[in-house]
Amino acid sequence: MAKEKLIIFDTTMRDGEQSPGASMSREEKIRIARQLERMRVDIIEAGFPAASDGDFESVQAVARAIKDSTVCGLARANEKDIRRCGEAVRVASSPRLHTFIATSPIHMEKKLRMEPSQVIEQAVRAIKWAREYTDNVEFSPEDAGRSDIDFLCRIIEQVIKAGATTINVPDTVGYTLPDQFGRLIKTLRERVPNADKAVWSVHCHNDLGLAVANSLSAVLNGARQVECTINGLGERAGNAALEEIVMAVRTRQDMFPCDTEIDATQIVPASKLVSGITGYPVQPNKAIVGANAFAHESGIHQDGVLKHRETYEIMSAESVGWITNRLTLGKLSGRNAFKSRLHELGIMLDSEEALNAAFKRFKDLADKKREIFDEDLQALISEEEIEHVENEHFRLVSLTAHSETGELPFARLVISEDGAQRQCEAQGSGPVDAAFKAIESVARSGASLLLYSVNNITSGTDSQGEVTVRLSKNGRIVNGQGADTDIVVASAKAYINALNKLQSKLERLNPQL
Ligand code: KIV
Ligand code: ZN
Repeated sequence: MAKEKLIIFDTTMRDGEQSPGASMSREEKIRIARQLERMRVDIIEAGFPAASDGDFESVQAVARAIKDSTVCGLARANEKDIRRCGEAVRVASSPRLHTFIATSPIHMEKKLRMEPSQVIEQAVRAIKWAREYTDNVEFSPEDAGRSDIDFLCRIIEQVIKAGATTINVPDTVGYTLPDQFGRLIKTLRERVPNADKAVWSVHCHNDLGLAVANSLSAVLNGARQVECTINGLGERAGNAALEEIVMAVRTRQDMFPCDTEIDATQIVPASKLVSGITGYPVQPNKAIVGANAFAHESGIHQDGVLKHRETYEIMSAESVGWITNRLTLGKLSGRNAFKSRLHELGIMLDSEEALNAAFKRFKDLADKKREIFDEDLQALISEEEIEHVENEHFRLVSLTAHSETGELPFARLVISEDGAQRQCEAQGSGPVDAAFKAIESVARSGASLLLYSVNNITSGTDSQGEVTVRLSKNGRIVNGQGADTDIVVASAKAYINALNKLQSKLERLNPQL
């Protein structure tokens, strides 16, 4: 019997962007969206257009760029948000508008200060406004996991009647347990009289580490859309991880009556892209996309895998896109080869000037590193975009670092501040610490360093190090990134990038709803 389809709704660029410091530029969103499209994600939630002009433009740009996936925007259930969202997504070849209002007693009373009957009226009005832009309308009763079941049945029946075509049931605070959440979906499908007129979707948060388990339990109880994010990125402890949902359903086809149409070989490239852009590293033991997910350490395991892979592996590394770390380009590669590889990676530079600048960077890198992989190209383009952000207040001109056993390390830098070159130097407990202290002596930001992390982009000691620096100041949290074969240089670039984001008026607060 033919399997039903499980729709994959990716919200990396909306809920994922709500992680502290994970906000993405328009260009970054387009790159992620193209990768999601290549992966055959059904629906891409590109952002929250009413949050700011920048968000509106990003969602609209994604809507224009993407042809094979549906592009969705999120709106609160009020006319202004919905009209803004409708304008942003209507240019898509397949648009969707997603609107939500809270339905749990605590949210209605303390946050909305509305009576339940008013919440139903507002939700119905919202669906009608949304339908003026598209007939593909999704409704979410926020905090459904803690809402009264009778009230949920009433509001859902009314919004379906008003024209909602997908009902998304969120466990907004990650409170439910798998069996309970599965039963919630089953009960709603049984009790809502017009339940068969909508697709049932779920959106689970990971506060108790149960987002994937809850989503899968919902699928076993009739949900046919799962909202998820690459690497499980998302508000607080994150959302259900797309890669885990897709591979659980695919690997356990004996248990699921449905399957996705995802091209799983694009999962690891998507994971690396999102991690690089947001600065959220992937933990090595993360399922599917962690560096150790397919590494067998114990002798018994290694022996078993060599004799017969399935003794210890339930899926292959190749099937999710590992081992795509293929050599792409080298020192002798020309401009055309460089450009066409960028195109294959979904990277379209918008001018000849941008291409020339990127090509120069590529040649500089190829002088330092013999083999250039796709991951190097992705990092190189991110760097290029970082340097072209508006309001680039500080820029690294040069850096010298010295460390010697028995001596205090020091770093000397030249930084350009609004075009004027400034020299600075400092000692530190290591060369990175010294470089940060030197930069601070010029910037005097007073920001607190929340996170410093280094990841190698490819393998080998000639790999570029990709550094993330998370800074916080006056309630704002920003992530800065830098990449270089020299990790002290990469670290200085990342620190400076974070300082520029703190300076930038364009960089908004975390787009919390
Ligand atoms: O977690 C949540 O409830 C949401 C909704 C807007 C779907 O993100
Ligand atoms: Zn959410």
